[in-house]
Amino acid sequence: MTLEEAREEVSRLSQELERHNRLYYVDGNPDISDRDYDEMFRNLELLEARFPELASPNSPTRRVGGEPIDGFEQREHFLQMLSIDDVFSEEELTDFYKRLQRLLGIDQIEVVIEPKIDGVAVAMHYERGELAFAVTRGDGTVGDDITENVRTIGNVPLRLPDGAPDWLEVRGEIFMPNARFAALNESRDEAGLPTFKNPRNATAGTLKLLDSREVAKRPLEFIAHGMGRLDGLEITSIAEFHELLGTLGIPMNSPIWTRDSLEGVLDVVRELDVKRHDLPYETDGAVVKVVSLAQQSELGQTSRAPRWAAAFKYPPEQKETIIREITIQVGRTGTLTPVAELDPVLVSGTTVSRATLHNQDEIDRKDVRIGDSVLIEKAGEIIPAVVKVLPEKRPADSEKYDIFRAVGGKCPSCESEIIRPDGFVAWKCLNPACPAKSANRIKQFVSRKALDVEGVGNIVAEKLVERAVIGEALDLFSVPFETLATLNIGTEEDSRVLGAKKAESIIATLERAKSAPLHRWIYALGIPQVGESAARELSRLHESFSLLNGSALLLELQTLKTGDRKEDNELLAPYGIAGEVGPTVARNVCAFFDSSEGERVLAGLEEIGIDPKSENFAPKPSEADSDGSNPVAGKTFVITGTLSAPRGQIKEAIQNHGGKVAGSVSKNTDYLLAGEGGGSKRDKAESLGVEIISEDDLTSMVAQIESASS
Ligand code: IVH
Repeated sequence: MTLEEAREEVSRLSQELERHNRLYYVDGNPDISDRDYDEMFRNLELLEARFPELASPNSPTRRVGGEPIDGFEQREHFLQMLSIDDVFSEEELTDFYKRLQRLLGIDQIEVVIEPKIDGVAVAMHYERGELAFAVTRGDGTVGDDITENVRTIGNVPLRLPDGAPDWLEVRGEIFMPNARFAALNESRDEAGLPTFKNPRNATAGTLKLLDSREVAKRPLEFIAHGMGRLDGLEITSIAEFHELLGTLGIPMNSPIWTRDSLEGVLDVVRELDVKRHDLPYETDGAVVKVVSLAQQSELGQTSRAPRWAAAFKYPPEQKETIIREITIQVGRTGTLTPVAELDPVLVSGTTVSRATLHNQDEIDRKDVRIGDSVLIEKAGEIIPAVVKVLPEKRPADSEKYDIFRAVGGKCPSCESEIIRPDGFVAWKCLNPACPAKSANRIKQFVSRKALDVEGVGNIVAEKLVERAVIGEALDLFSVPFETLATLNIGTEEDSRVLGAKKAESIIATLERAKSAPLHRWIYALGIPQVGESAARELSRLHESFSLLNGSALLLELQTLKTGDRKEDNELLAPYGIAGEVGPTVARNVCAFFDSSEGERVLAGLEEIGIDPKSENFAPKPSEADSDGSNPVAGKTFVITGTLSAPRGQIKEAIQNHGGKVAGSVSKNTDYLLAGEGGGSKRDKAESLGVEIISEDDLTSMVAQIESASS
């Protein structure tokens, strides 16, 4: 076969595959078998392997992903990616429509109404029909270039059929269909991987992966909902835009209604409230948009949102069900949490069978009892909650619920006595060796934001404790391979071993975790009130783990009273300690090191032979600043334009030297770090007199700090 013949065949196969893709994903009407499709695919792969010069980045064969990358490039949007103003009631929606009428001076305004997709916004750019790049919203001005990841999404056309405009920017939402999200989470949990909170998180997490081959394995989809830059074609309305999407085979939202009266809009919004639960994606609202582009531009926009669109948000759905039982869970710190076990009901698209009752005070306030009929709701990401009890449906023989009495005064996990410490609403188990507490501490320890030990998920953590393999998270490091590989993660009757492959990978991940930075280790320990940002701040103030123990800074800090300002304290002032770390955090950290648990952790780390080191150690920004040796410390930076390294990396470099990075320019900004491009932020900085610096300037600032400290 000559190169020319091959070129023709590659082009023919690519077009055919793309056409079948459209038939399958967009029209839902495939006209060849999977087998024929696969054969065509393989033929194309073979040709591309033989004639590498013919392999294009938009070839259908590229949907499987490619080599991992180091980070995402930044890309500036041609037109700002705006958000939409929310309206929360029919009254507010009425006000919105009436404002349109007033501003446009006409009565009948044509609008489209469609479901709001809860996903990740992305702008797809097609240059002469070829997918050129895809960019996330980012801050609306600059986003991440996620082209490689987007190429793997099955229903995104990589090449448009004939008739595509010179340049077409389609904006839309990437999401994970609900059913496929549920299946993904199930298989992740089985594999001991952390599960995702909701489809939107799963989507965002997936799109952030640097290995597009992994993205290709996740079930993402795309739906277009808006237009960006368009060259070489005149369009005058959303209706025409939809027509264009249709002819080009770009997936569109459905259902979409068109109405030209307020009553019509209100009817649709009510209709959608029923229909939305059957949609394949999560939605909590309806988007209403003016159809005519001329009217859109007449209405204009505010700095963040257009005046021609509104997002109607549905109130969280409430459902009635019955509390069959109340169970008590023991958390990481020993807190006993009552949980209502419910007759399963479908709420906001997911089946709910449990709801938290928080604590005894909540139970008393609502007078929740076993057997009660209750209204429950699931608002956004929040765990389902009992809104209220329906007392008229209460069984005659029901009794007030009392946690202490229900558990007989004993921890349901370890049977040691429970207490209610002074000033606390919750009952607690104080037994440091309580298995429920251990399992939950281990879960925290291995979680993604902590030491990120892939392979140890909820089930593995529980089984390790249940089978008495380990009692503490640090014991993980000394579990022999054999023990891990043969761990029964099933039940006694139906046993299932973890296996050698998983055991190997857990051990390898643990080995890597040994060199994780200090802030992750602090967070991993699950000290009360010490979240991610407090952990980071503590690691800025302390060079290593062992130095946290007996830290003069924390000892001083814990003596402050509510209302005392850290800035007024002579010892503390130079450290510029941020909001997340105050007297409570200091007291909890000190108490941790005084406890037997703290002692065990110190001893355990010594035994493993590590002392986790801070990666952002920059203790005294204000002093360093005043002697001029650290021009970054305490300063606020804003970043714009295209830089030589991924933005996250530059941000980290600034933070590691004690600086702060903000999203938008204000009078509190010290420096605007501007790469190529960076239009609107540059203008704003100039108008406010904020100093604009280049990447080279930043490099020399950092060099100055490093030479001063050496
Ligand atoms: S139209 C000016 N339609 O929600 C923006 N947006 O909260 C016009 N979204 O930025 C966008 N579903 O990313 C539109 N059916 C839909 C949508 C939708 C989800 C996103 C979009 C927008 C954000 C605003």
